[in-house]
Amino acid sequence: MRVIFLIFSLLTTFLLVHCEDPYIYRTWDVKYTTLSPLGVPQKVITINGLFPGPIINCTSNNNIVITVANNLDEPLLFTWNGIQQRKNSWQEGTLGTNCPIPPRTNFTYHFQVKDQIGTYYYYPTTSLHRAAGGYGLISVHSRDLIPVPFDPPADDYTVFVGDWYTKSQDTLKKLLDTGRSLGTPNGLLINGKADGKTDKPMFTMKLGKTYRFRICNVGLKDSINVRIQGHNMKIVELEGSHTVQNVYDSLDVHLGQCYSVLVKADQKPKDYYLVASTRFTKKDITTTAVIRYDGGKGPPHRELRASSGGMALVAQPIPIHSLEFDRHAARPNPQGSYHYGKINITRTFRLVMDSGSTVGGKRRFAVNGVSHTDGETPLKLAEYFGVVDKVFKYDIMRDEPLANVTNTIVAPNVINATFRNFVEIIFENHDKSVQSWHLSGYSFFAVAIEPGRWSPDQRKKYNLIDAVSRHTIQVYPNSWAAIMTTLDNAGMWNLRSVSLERQYLGEQLYLSVLSPERSLRDEYTIPPNELLCGIVKNLPMPPSHSAA
Ligand SMILES: *[C@@H]1O[C@H](CO)[C@@H](O)[C@H](O)[C@H]1NC(C)=O
Ligand SMILES: *[C@@H]1O[C@H](CO)[C@@H](O)[C@H](O)[C@H]1NC(C)=O
Ligand SMILES: *[C@@H]1O[C@H](CO)[C@@H](O)[C@H](O)[C@H]1NC(C)=O
Ligand SMILES: *[C@@H]1O[C@H](CO)[C@@H](O)[C@H](O)[C@H]1NC(C)=O
Ligand SMILES: *[C@@H]1O[C@H](CO)[C@@H](O)[C@H](O)[C@H]1NC(C)=O
Repeated sequence: MRVIFLIFSLLTTFLLVHCEDPYIYRTWDVKYTTLSPLGVPQKVITINGLFPGPIINCTSNNNIVITVANNLDEPLLFTWNGIQQRKNSWQEGTLGTNCPIPPRTNFTYHFQVKDQIGTYYYYPTTSLHRAAGGYGLISVHSRDLIPVPFDPPADDYTVFVGDWYTKSQDTLKKLLDTGRSLGTPNGLLINGKADGKTDKPMFTMKLGKTYRFRICNVGLKDSINVRIQGHNMKIVELEGSHTVQNVYDSLDVHLGQCYSVLVKADQKPKDYYLVASTRFTKKDITTTAVIRYDGGKGPPHRELRASSGGMALVAQPIPIHSLEFDRHAARPNPQGSYHYGKINITRTFRLVMDSGSTVGGKRRFAVNGVSHTDGETPLKLAEYFGVVDKVFKYDIMRDEPLANVTNTIVAPNVINATFRNFVEIIFENHDKSVQSWHLSGYSFFAVAIEPGRWSPDQRKKYNLIDAVSRHTIQVYPNSWAAIMTTLDNAGMWNLRSVSLERQYLGEQLYLSVLSPERSLRDEYTIPPNELLCGIVKNLPMPPSHSAA
């Protein structure tokens, strides 16, 4: 008996010791490669020779360790869009949180994907590098103990759609730096490719099987409508939330957003086009990829417009109420409050974005009159080293728009946010183009998207019951959108326009969420390999926070 007990306890110890969450190690060679995605040779950022970059295929709670060898000729950072980096904005990879990786050096990112089961992607945040590629899928699977609300698909396909310019990122950057605009994109890409004259299939399906397509808009400027000829798409997940499974014949995917849809191969076995076209733009840009049925015969239909109508596609924006949570699905999201509608709002931000202004002869985009600029010293490091006074001021932006438009202020735009506050953020778009906003470090409840201007009585239009939790929200022209979240993740978090042009020219800001005791319970300490730059480069490391 005693022996059995001993063996049992040894086994238990063994299991406990070896139950540390698994590690995934990757080494990335990041460099320019000459490719011709639109038929014109240009410098594209590849990772280990791939464009799009390699898939990070992982399971919730995995530790991800990625060594980036920066073989570009410029400093580089990657961000892990949608991965929440709990207590760990050290790994966020934006210019406000990290010093960029100098050319010809290596840097190792180390983070854990927590219980965020779904579809995310990474991309470079420095310069206009995103316009040259460098992006790839992050797919987080559930551990076996957490069920997902649909059967395992026959296969799991990535569909990265995005607009693309044939100009190099240096040329595009020069355009913006000299006050011009990026102009109209030259085309659309699907997984780094455009419109084959070729009928080589990008995807294959077997009759009767169901497939998961993870669709992300990784582009720079335009919303994109995605559809598959003759097939419906059933939404099952968006940005880590399992949704009510509504069926669509086409889907608007706005900048920075990701959806998983299930597609059943239930049509005549032949070729079909997956069609992507720009939405809400003057000029319609369309591209296609071939989906082939295994053993099927016949080319895809030439008609690329939606099957219904035969007119130019007029897909309606998906009403926000149809993207609600699946109440019966597992929601492991630890910070997801199901009763968010009952929490009192502690701070309201009403952020107004306009069509841009000119400051000192340069074009800028601002939020409530402040246009963000990145300095030499990351904001997060200025806080950590206690030198904020030399780097930025908190709260130069007001929480609500100015009654009288004054001159745009160009400065680091940092909100002194309070840890665990429950905040409401309203994005008000006074411009003619669709906007898209991403919050790092959190997912938020997207409670309303409505036309017109916001006022407090509009709160009665909020979905306070089952709004979906996501990290990127679109704001239609002359409309507003409202989100809510609890600021329970200490760190320095970027709130940005996903439009590259707008973000680069100042339409972004940071939320500094400091835990009051600066305790290690609330936020990890600075990683040992942290790069230092700007005025903190040669400063002695401050004593580590006390463990609480
Ligand atoms: C990704 O991981 C899942 C779960 O571990 C596995 O089923 C799938 O085959 C993997 N996909 C790829 C492309 O490696
Ligand atoms: C960077 O990493 C690569 C791959 O691990 C290695 O070959 C190279 O020597 C490293 N370079 C530096 C400067 O550490
Ligand atoms: C919310 O605010 C109301 C009115 O100020 C107050 O009565 C209520 O107790 C608050 N609820 C919570 C959960 O703090
Ligand atoms: C805004 O401008 C109007 C008219 O120019 C003026 O009457 C008003 O006092 C100004 N309001 C503020 C808050 O400065
Ligand atoms: C930030 O706000 C808190 C109140 O939430 C305040 O105590 C603190 O002094 C503020 N910090 C700065 C630098 O303004």
